[in-house]
This record gives sequence, C-alpha cells and structure tokens, in this order.
Amino acid sequence: MAASASKASSGLKPPAMDDAAAAADVKATKGGGRGAFLAHVFLVLSVITLCAVVYAPRFFVSGPATYGGGALVAISAPRPSSTNRTPSSAASPLGLEEHVVGRGDADQERHGGALHQHQHHQQVVLDNQVGSPCASLPNHTICCDRSDYHSDVCFMAGDVRTDAASLSLLLFPPPRGASSSAPEPAAAAVTEERIRPYTRKWDAYITKTIHEVRLRRVARPEEAAAHRCDVRHDAPVLVVTAGGYSHNMFHVFNDGFLPLWLTAQHLRRRVVLAVLSYSPRWAGTYGEILSGLSRYHVIDLLRDKRTHCFPGAVVGTRYHDYLAVNSTRLRDNRTIVDFHDFLAGVYDDDSSGRSRTEETPPRERRPRLGIVSRKGRRVIENQAAVARLAASVGFDVEVMETATGVPLSAVYASVSSYDALVGVHGADLTAFLFLRPGGRAALAQIAPLGITMLSRNLFGVPAARMGLHYEQYDVSARESSLSRKYPAGHVVVADPARARREQGKQEWELVEHVYLRGQNVSLDLGRFRETLARIHSRLKERQQSQVSAPDASPQIFISPQINLYH
Ligand SMILES: *[C@@H]1O[C@H](CO)[C@@H](O)[C@H](O)[C@H]1NC(C)=O
Ligand SMILES: *[C@@H]1O[C@H](CO)[C@@H](O)[C@H](O)[C@H]1NC(C)=O
Ligand SMILES: *[C@@H]1O[C@H](CO)[C@@H](O)[C@H](O)[C@H]1NC(C)=O
Ligand SMILES: *[C@@H]1O[C@H](CO)[C@@H](O)[C@H](O)[C@H]1NC(C)=O
Repeated sequence: MAASASKASSGLKPPAMDDAAAAADVKATKGGGRGAFLAHVFLVLSVITLCAVVYAPRFFVSGPATYGGGALVAISAPRPSSTNRTPSSAASPLGLEEHVVGRGDADQERHGGALHQHQHHQQVVLDNQVGSPCASLPNHTICCDRSDYHSDVCFMAGDVRTDAASLSLLLFPPPRGASSSAPEPAAAAVTEERIRPYTRKWDAYITKTIHEVRLRRVARPEEAAAHRCDVRHDAPVLVVTAGGYSHNMFHVFNDGFLPLWLTAQHLRRRVVLAVLSYSPRWAGTYGEILSGLSRYHVIDLLRDKRTHCFPGAVVGTRYHDYLAVNSTRLRDNRTIVDFHDFLAGVYDDDSSGRSRTEETPPRERRPRLGIVSRKGRRVIENQAAVARLAASVGFDVEVMETATGVPLSAVYASVSSYDALVGVHGADLTAFLFLRPGGRAALAQIAPLGITMLSRNLFGVPAARMGLHYEQYDVSARESSLSRKYPAGHVVVADPARARREQGKQEWELVEHVYLRGQNVSLDLGRFRETLARIHSRLKERQQSQVSAPDASPQIFISPQINLYH
C-alpha cells in the first residue's frame, strides 16, 4: 500500500470542512508556478513509491508477454485466483467480426443474480441515479449529466461504436427504413459532447491530465459503413480512467473504484470496461476488483484501434462523498456496506462471497488489532511500545508494514481478520473498507497536529457510516515531533487552527509541508491506553453478547510481512 498519503489530502475539495477549506482554493490559484512544480515533485515521489506499492509477482510473469501488440488487453474475467489470472489475448481473426460473450456466469449469483434482465434488445437502464436528467434515456440519444460538483457522466443508448483515431464514441442512427417507434431526432441536430471522465472536475490540475473523450451523434446512417464493427459486444461500455491520482490507495478507491462501482454495480457485471491510461500493471494490481465489476475483458481504449460496437455507453462515474455511498441517490438503495461486501466477494477465497471471519464470530478469543506502520512521515516513533501496550490491554497485535508491495488480496486477508485497525492519518487507512462492518470492528485514527478535521472527514465519517466503531485520537503538542522543531508556544504547535488561518492563501502549503509531511508522533502511552481499552471493552462486550464459548488460548498470527507483538 502506498505510504505517500500527503497526496491523499492535497487538493482535496472538502465541501463542508473547515480544516482543509483552503485546499481547493489554493489548488485553483496555483497556476503554473511553484505549486505546479511541487505537485510535480510529489507525483514523481509518488510514482517511485508506486513501484514498491503495486508490485505483484503474478503480474510480471504474464503482463509484458501479452501486452503491446494485442490491442485488446485481457484480464481474467472469471473468478480471480492466482492460477486463472493469466491474461490472454482476445484479438479477433483478421477480417472477422468478433462477438464477445462474457465469461464467469457461475459468478453471477455472487454479485447479485438477476441474469435475465439483459437480453439483447431489452433496454438496459444505464443510469442508476435517482432523479438524474438521464434516468430515462430514449434509444439513439446522448445525455450528459453535468449537474454534479465532482463529476460529469454521459450516457448513450443505441448503436455505439468506438473511433480510436478521434478518441470518440459514435452513435449511429438506425438504418433507414428500420421500423422505429420513436420519432427520429432531426438529422441536422448533430450533437457532440466532450468529457474527461474523472471525479474531481473542480481540480483543474489533475483534470487536465485526463484524456478527453468525444461523444458524437452521427446524422447519416450511411457513415456506418466506414465504421464497421470489428468487435461486437452485447453489453454497454463504461469508459473510465486508470489515471488521475492513481498512485495512492485513498484516491484509487475514493476517485476510482468506489465511483466505478456506484456507476456500474447495478449492471451486475454486464458492462464492458474501456479504460483510459490503461496499464497492465494497473490491471494486475486491481484484477480482482475489475473482474468483480465486469465479466468481460478490459479494453485498453487508447491503444485498441479496432472498432468496438456496443448497445450503449456510459462515460464517467458518479461520486457521492469521501468514500461514501449515499443510498438515497441510488435506485437500488445500496450502501457502503454493499461496497464492502463487494470487496469481500472479490478478495475472499471463500466463494460464498462473505468474509470467512463473519461466519465464525469471535468468541472468547483475544480481539485482533492491526497497527498500520507508516514509513517516512507521520510515523509513530514509539510504535514498538504502542504495540506492547496494545498487547497488555488484551489484543493480539499485528504490525502491518506499508509500501511492502504485497498484493491487495493479502492486505484484505489481514485487515478483514482484525477486530480493530489503528493508524496515523494517511492513505493506507483506506483499508478500513476491508474491516467487517456493522459494529463488529473498530477504527482508531491517530490525528496529528493541524489535521484534526481532515482526518475525521476523510476516514472517520466514512468509517462510522460503515457501522465501524470509530475513535479519533488527536495528538497533543507534546506528542508531535513539531514540538521539537518549533520553540515552545509557537503558534504552529500551540494553535494549529490559528496558524492555518494566518496563512491565508498559503494555508494548504502549511498543511502539506508542515502538518502532513513534516510531522511524526510519539504517543502518550497513558492516554492512548484509554483509547485502546475503550475499543477492547466494546469488542469484549460484543463477544459476551454472542454465544458463550470455552476460553481459547491467545493466538499467534504469523505472516511474512508482519512483525508480531504479543
Ligand atoms: C436501439 O436501436 C438499435 C439500432 O440502432 C436497435 O438495435 C436496438 O434494438 C434499439 N434498442 C431498443 C431498446 O429499442
Ligand atoms: C444524500 O443525497 C441526498 C440527495 O441528493 C441529499 O439530500 C443528502 O444530503 C445526502 N446525504 C448525505 C449524508 O450526504
Ligand atoms: C429504496 O428505498 C425506497 C425508500 O425507502 C423504497 O421506496 C424503495 O422500494 C427501495 N428500493 C429498493 C430497490 O429496495
Ligand atoms: C519521522 O520518522 C522517520 C522515520 O524514523 C524519519 O525518517 C523522519 O525524518 C521523521 N520526520 C520528522 C519530521 O521527524
């Protein structure tokens, strides 16, 4: 997992958040000056981190060998496992139209059943959002919903074909003479929409790095002859990007996969993902998630020069809030717990799709606590003592090293077995999504000086919405390494809120360089014990209220990337 969480917070637009209210403003006013330079440096640093982050052995075995020539870069569609994830080329024989049928039907039930709603000529409801202007989309039309602050989403229904040369999706009218009950739109009304599919449209810095896709309604059916289908798909296409802030676990989920899931889960894997800024590394790192979202091969949209044909298209993704699913905005009332269950379904070895640990509730065992161990910045300087403290409170303790390059499935396996996750504010805490929801697990976030609200908004509120018991431990000036750097009583340590206000337009610089990047913590063991004890007794109470069972002996957990404290 990425340890470089500063980017997790930089440039965040916090709609109702005093703490980082300057973030977006500062970004917006940066222009091409120092800010842009710094952002570039961070990006480079982050990319270096990425190399360690996304390393997954299985990928390097198969990736480069099949990538390059074949335009359609395949990822495994059926149930992911280390044995069946070898990518395979799906290039069609020359001159023959390929008809793509999905794979992994057996998987269907796991992801929500309802197999028969997507027959060939049955209108699929592409937009799952309540009250959307695109909710009822007539055939042969394009509709863009640009009303949201975070993202635009466009929809097309009808005969959609890719045009690689212009990075376009073309919408063809029905052939002349074809019986059509709907009145044809005037032939002159050729519409074109342009969209950069990313969920931070307010963030000009990153949005301009996202490829712009054109959606064009072709007036004359005759033009279809010049765009013969090389590959014909039964399912609609969803165009997304693998770019953006893709080096950081918070952004990967917050800007990428959660919005993707929000936009496409109702299609029950009957959707083809066409990806901008695709890379085999990305597909390898997130292969399980991609397979869980779509039963088809992923299309590498920038390199695949063939004409792909679809009965519909969605470009862009919905966004609700930080790691949030607002069920009132979804026609099927999904919640963040459904997103957790989706992740559990794709990562759990158990094909039931439910977490194994869920089926065997903790009985009289010591609750398990994972400590997220960051490197470089926002480090817990007395981490070993904190781990011993947690063990003395009654936890079995694992220290989760970050940026070790372990696959996400391994991270899932660890975190889903914890009863509590503890860590300093940072992107790796996104792993709280892997905890068992509904009061069965807890998240304790350590908030360094100056980023109290930011911590609460990014992880605290979303964790609570998932039903986790949330504790935030706000460090005092004494516990912050900043108290060694600044003289006693200096406003930066004595009153971070005032220090930030006094920066005016430069507020985010202070947050980023001093509070996020320039700070470690050394926890007051006496005070932190209270937080741990509170979590421990909550978990024990929960255990007691469940089936009583004979005492189990303390367990030792060993895994290669983990140091054991007990
Ligand atoms: C939409 O139009 C296409 C032809 O352009 C046709 O094949 C398809 O059946 C139509 N879909 C519906 C639901 O009418
Ligand atoms: C959820 O969405 C509805 C409708 O857009 C909105 O009124 C409500 O405030 C949102 N809820 C939260 C918690 O953001
Ligand atoms: C979603 O919730 C609304 C309001 O509570 C309810 O009317 C509707 O039937 C629910 N839809 C589904 C699919 O559960
Ligand atoms: C925080 O701790 C790390 C690891 O010990 C160290 O490399 C870094 O310089 C420290 N940063 C500060 C601001 O003390």
